[in-house]
Amino acid sequence: MKVDVLLGLQWGDEGKGKVVDYLATKYQVIARFQGGPNAGHTLEFDGHKHVLHQIPSGIFREGTVNIIGNGVVLDPVVFKKEIHDLEKFKIDLVEKLVLSKKTQLILPSHKLLDAAYEKAKGKDKIGSTLKGIGPCYQDKIARNGLRIGDILADGFQERYRNLVKKHERILKQYKYEYNLKEVEAPFFEAIAFLKQFKLLNSEYLINHHLKNNQKVLAEGAQGSLLDIDFGSYPFVTSSNTMAAGACTGLGVAPGQIGEVYGIFKAYCTRVGGGPFPTELFDELGEAIQNEGHEFGATTGRPRRCGWLDLPALKYAIMINGVTQLFMMKADVLSILEDIKVCTHYELKDGTKTDELPFQLLDEEVNPIYKNMKGWKTDITSLSRVEDMPVELAEYISYIEKEVGVPIRLISVGPNRTQTLLK
Ligand code: GDP
Ligand code: IMO
Ligand code: MG
Repeated sequence: MKVDVLLGLQWGDEGKGKVVDYLATKYQVIARFQGGPNAGHTLEFDGHKHVLHQIPSGIFREGTVNIIGNGVVLDPVVFKKEIHDLEKFKIDLVEKLVLSKKTQLILPSHKLLDAAYEKAKGKDKIGSTLKGIGPCYQDKIARNGLRIGDILADGFQERYRNLVKKHERILKQYKYEYNLKEVEAPFFEAIAFLKQFKLLNSEYLINHHLKNNQKVLAEGAQGSLLDIDFGSYPFVTSSNTMAAGACTGLGVAPGQIGEVYGIFKAYCTRVGGGPFPTELFDELGEAIQNEGHEFGATTGRPRRCGWLDLPALKYAIMINGVTQLFMMKADVLSILEDIKVCTHYELKDGTKTDELPFQLLDEEVNPIYKNMKGWKTDITSLSRVEDMPVELAEYISYIEKEVGVPIRLISVGPNRTQTLLK
């Protein structure tokens, strides 16, 4: 069997959590391969709304194994809280969860560094979630990091102290005031808590499942436009959010990748800083924000809203090898008389292109739009694609024609049940 990959094609928050939960009945293994507590994946069913940060979104489905892969950076304190929040649902979490021993640990001092770096950047700040993601990946690449497997070995405390000493030197350089003592006690409690879970070389486990014809779904975090290599650098996250990240973040070979499900919203959102060519600054943007409840699942920050950007979508489809598209939040656009789609950018010298420039800068690209008629109908209780309003069907077929990949799933509301398959 193959590993199917599900990932966001925009700037995150496309609705990955909802769809992973929806699809999880078809898979035996669900695995996160990158990112960490910067992610906020929302699931809604049976009158409950759950936001998962590090735990894979298959956790509520019976018979699934949920793996936190080596490509993830894990905050043990956030993990402990997530586990406690799930306790009332009577899921056997120790049985269902597996953590890679090679997963990097986010230390309290990584979060302090994140804040210090952002503060020093001033108006050019990334708008990080301040969960310690960048500094943790930095230590991983610099070969200084601590991994989950290290907590089981002697000398963990000493290695921790040595790394923190390095961090404190940097914090002093940045003249950043901090109090490590008050955050260290909960950290060590969470490290002790972690030891009851299955901590494994999960690459063996995944490949074993594949050999035994079990289906694996890799759950991406963030989105392709936040990818460290191909996103709107430097306004990106610190991991490879693209399909290739599933190989390095789980230990599966490229030839083992099957379907690549690319998720996008029927419009665009972005939270934090950075370019966003189709951003709406008027009451229309505000209306979409309100209708779509576009407020961050991790930080609560309002999400910037704008029109669907086809050059960016085509780029994301290209670098990921997307085989099927899932369009989310179509219901949000039901409030609009007219809908715009960006088909090309006009550059400063007057040339028209549908490629992303090396440096995506709002002032350098002028979006060219196609106008489309809105459907102006409540679609939240639709149960068959055949009953879709004709304008929505046209919107979908226009996008399919432009990007050359079929849209197989259309989401018309946050609930698990508000999902149409085409
Ligand atoms: P993720 O990070 O990609 O998992 O997405 P988030 O959970 O951060 O943000 C998506 C938000 O949209 C959540 O509040 C979801 O409950 C909600 N959502 C998902 N799909 C739909 C949809 O089709 N329609 C509406 N109205 N909301 C949706
Ligand atoms: P999910 O998985 C949306 C954004 C932050 C910031 C930039 C860098 O829920 O889609 P970081 O904390 O990684 O250093 O922040 O990336 N960002 C996200 N935006 N959804 C996410 O995750 C995000 N994770 C990070 O807002 O602009
Ligand atoms: Mg999110």
